[in-house]
Amino acid sequence: METIEELKVHYRWSQEDDENIKRISWFGEKYKEDFIDKFYNYLENFKDTSKYLPDEKVRSRHKEKIKGWFVRLFKGGYDAQYLRSIYRIGEVHLKIGLPPHYVQASMGFVREYIHEKLSSELGCTPERDQVLASVNKALDINLDVMINSFREEELKLYLASGKYQRMMIENIRRVSWLFDFFIIITLSLVGLFLIVWIVYEFYMVLVGQLPLERGGLSILGSVLILYAISELLSEEIKHIRGGAVSIKAFVGVALAAVIRKVLIIS
Ligand code: HEM
Repeated sequence: METIEELKVHYRWSQEDDENIKRISWFGEKYKEDFIDKFYNYLENFKDTSKYLPDEKVRSRHKEKIKGWFVRLFKGGYDAQYLRSIYRIGEVHLKIGLPPHYVQASMGFVREYIHEKLSSELGCTPERDQVLASVNKALDINLDVMINSFREEELKLYLASGKYQRMMIENIRRVSWLFDFFIIITLSLVGLFLIVWIVYEFYMVLVGQLPLERGGLSILGSVLILYAISELLSEEIKHIRGGAVSIKAFVGVALAAVIRKVLIIS
């Protein structure tokens, strides 16, 4: 992890930035209650907020911690201790399995909120622009450290494992990649066969070997299965890119197979 001095150099944090932040040291205290209400409203945008913030006890603890972070942000004088406290936020988020994307997106909200309130406090003045530029740098440093602590903790976990464990992890990764590759090829082939089958069913209906009603239902069932396979393929691609696989896609395939059977029997 970079030291606070290195971070200040990288983000071109100057004495002037520190003074700009300290000029609005009252901001955190004045707006913390309004901020936490709006922030929590915003968090409802995430589909699984309640997974991470399940009950009132955790929520009120989190609210207090965020208010503390918000108030401290405007005090300036960022030092090694401050850096450690932001790093810890990242560690806590990692421990609860919070996707870094949520923190990144939330920081966008925080930025917009401060922008709006500062504009109403200071108007569209050069002073507001200067202060805002410093606040933006402070938020960038915060986000950098929070997200980096995620990566560093994961890396530490990886490096802490012995040589053979690391080799095993690498091999399991390769095998898993092979499985994914096999699944994609199989699904694509089944999809292709299904397209040929649907064309064949159309042919059977056209030449009168399959009654129109039965043929229509059978084609509908096959298209449904094709649709489900295409869903599975997209899920698999998402998985290869590092996303979580939705179990809904598998339920969808099973449902499509049952519906097809029902259509054919009826
Ligand atoms: C700008 C974004 C965020 C900031 C600044 C922030 C800040 C914090 C802070 C200061 C803590 C306390 C760390 C400690 O104990 O030392 C914390 C913990 C936590 N955060 Fe966040 N957080 C953010 C985003 C989120 C989001 C988006 C979620 C969930 C949707 C979340 C869920 C949690 C939870 C569950 C804890 C642990 C609470 C506990 O059990 O005490 N945070 N966060």
